[in-house]
Amino acid sequence: MWWIAALLGCNPESPPTFYADVAPVLGARCGACHTSDGVAFSLDDPEIAAVLADDLITLARGRTDAAPYRMPPFAAVETEACAPPAPWKDDPRLTDRELAVLVAWRDAGALPGDPDDLVPVDRPSLDLVGANATLTAPEHLVAAYTGVDPYICFPLDPGLSETRWLTGVQVLPGDDRVVHHASVLLDPGRASAALAGSDGSFPCFATPGAVGSDSVANFAPGAPPSELPDDAGFAVSPSDGLVLLVHYHGITEDVVDRTQVALRYVDAPPAHTARFTLNGVIDLDVLPRTVDPPLLVPAGATGHAEEVRVPLVLPDGARIWSVFPHMHYSGVSQQVFVDHGAHGGDDTCLIEVGRWDFDWQRDYVYDAPLDALPEVHPGDELVVRCTFDNTVDNPSVVTLLDDLGVPEPFDLASGNASTDEMCVALVGLLFP
Ligand code: HEC
Repeated sequence: MWWIAALLGCNPESPPTFYADVAPVLGARCGACHTSDGVAFSLDDPEIAAVLADDLITLARGRTDAAPYRMPPFAAVETEACAPPAPWKDDPRLTDRELAVLVAWRDAGALPGDPDDLVPVDRPSLDLVGANATLTAPEHLVAAYTGVDPYICFPLDPGLSETRWLTGVQVLPGDDRVVHHASVLLDPGRASAALAGSDGSFPCFATPGAVGSDSVANFAPGAPPSELPDDAGFAVSPSDGLVLLVHYHGITEDVVDRTQVALRYVDAPPAHTARFTLNGVIDLDVLPRTVDPPLLVPAGATGHAEEVRVPLVLPDGARIWSVFPHMHYSGVSQQVFVDHGAHGGDDTCLIEVGRWDFDWQRDYVYDAPLDALPEVHPGDELVVRCTFDNTVDNPSVVTLLDDLGVPEPFDLASGNASTDEMCVALVGLLFP
């Protein structure tokens, strides 16, 4: 197979090896999590990689019939119906060439090779460069897993005496065995402080009730810090609070967690103010009911589709820099469009999520300069299309039923609880 070797740029005389060819690929694409001090088992070891060679290739190809989830965890897909307007930042998917390297290595016997061939791997950095403030949540006891995941909100006081602009946010889990995912939300007027008990926290699900729905960061293990495009920031005024929302997933023992949030502020107002807004069907008092009839995913339904249209209320010339698709357990796929309606022009497809996975939610951020980001105008509509599978063929529905101790799928209506469903997308907007 000299031609494969030539194509891959390796020496045709010697077969591809772990150290020379595979480690750089796994380090760059999987190394944010699969390393000795990462959140998942290490793939730095040639023996482990060799045992898993078939699985690595199957998962990285996006074949999901063989596994309950996709690796690397990244659900955006490009299809004929949806070509996003720009490439994605921190896209961990393997290129065809990288995949071919893994296949050639596996087919040649998954050999370790010579450790001296290992070149230092450029792992994705998970540090927020230039962080200039840290907020620490109070200690929280995460009880051994009881079958239900606690969602806990911690009001945090930024302690500002004048308005500053947040350009980056990083969640630093206290104990990453139990911090499943987290969001940091803006709390104008600090309504959340009154909800907290003497331990400085209160239970909350999906959004912290009294607090608005604007987040400044969404975190999943192994995800890079949330950073805004150049010359853009979230305004935080002295009367604003922040809320850290943590979705915990207990383990077999009690654990005390103390999660921190690192922040990067600038003092001068940037050219663009950022806002995340939540659009779609969600049963929050702060949002009007946007669909009629309300969202309902009947028990036993497969391929059940819902479409939600929300007028975008914004100043002219706003741009979208990120999308955060969100559904609950029966969600299967989602497409998010902008319908430019009155202004004419084709719809802009912002994202298609091919295989929704409740456990791996993230912001999908465009990797493009500001003037190349999709522009939206007053009167444009955000269109969120979701499909759902509320049967036991959907592994997430099985998880939900197991968690609740319920034998059969049941109707899922719009709402905040895990026993409800949602069809929403959080859009990151930049206002001039
Ligand atoms: C954002 C973090 C993250 C990234 C990036 C990531 N993984 Fe994972 N992966 C996990 C976690 C967490 C698990 C499950 C926990 C565990 O088993 O340690 C997992 C599990 C796996 C499994 C076991 C699957 C099974 O059936 O149990 C394989 C194989 C795997 N990953 C391969 C990869 C490969 C290959 C890449 C890169 C192309 C990758 N992962 C990138 C976090 C990640």
